[in-house]
Amino acid sequence: MQSNTFLIHKLRKKFLAQELIEFSTDLPQSILNIEDKTRSNIFTWRGQFSPQLIENLLLSYCPRDAHILDPFAASGTVIYEAACFGLPACGCELNPAAWILTRTYQLINLPSAKRDRLIISIAERLENYFPKPKIFEYFEIDEISYAKLQNFINDLYTETDYIEKIILDAFVILLDLANHKLTTSHVHKTFYKLCQAIKNFPESEAPIASLLCDARSLPVEYYARYMLR
Ligand SMILES: C[S@@+](CC[C@H](N)C(=O)[O-])C[C@H]1O[C@@H](n2cnc3c(N)ncnc32)[C@H](O)[C@@H]1O
Repeated sequence: MQSNTFLIHKLRKKFLAQELIEFSTDLPQSILNIEDKTRSNIFTWRGQFSPQLIENLLLSYCPRDAHILDPFAASGTVIYEAACFGLPACGCELNPAAWILTRTYQLINLPSAKRDRLIISIAERLENYFPKPKIFEYFEIDEISYAKLQNFINDLYTETDYIEKIILDAFVILLDLANHKLTTSHVHKTFYKLCQAIKNFPESEAPIASLLCDARSLPVEYYARYMLR
């Protein structure tokens, strides 16, 4: 299997090599319909765009020195795809849960070794709080109280920095407790999936930002200061 780093490298090469087309020129309907779906979104979110659609729009129409601003970022498909091409990108989103997911893409600006260290450090503390069930216990209902989860989050929050909070917040959103029972296995499976996603993020020095705000009052000055420096 090709590593994610290799795939990202290939994507960036393709982005630089492919010729732009006129904005007034339509893309073939087969591309817009995503007849051949080869990729899925990293996070599930209602109403999000297909990654391949965004990839093709950027490949075809996006100037190679562009700054991407998605005022309706949801869980950040546009931001992620832009980051894969090494473009600076900023998302704005009104819904805090969606914004928290988009915010994880800021980790793209960290070297992968640092991301790995962060993940390991949180995983160790998670394991201390919620020891992994043995294989034969995995299918049993090992429900945890919300209070215990809250203690874990509070404890970690007091001793973590901003970046670790990004991971913790996303973890809580992905637990999706409105639709899932809080069990030890759910906690570990959710954390594992998040870790895998983060490990596979591309690395980019082009700044990635996400703002929790209403697009109608987007702080354009902040955006310009942060992104266009
Ligand atoms: C169709 S989704 C956008 C999909 C996204 N661009 C992507 O890359 O997958 C629309 C998002 O816009 C957000 N939204 C709606 N009105 C907004 C506003 N005034 N300001 C910021 N976000 C808003 C919604 O919460 C929703 O998550």
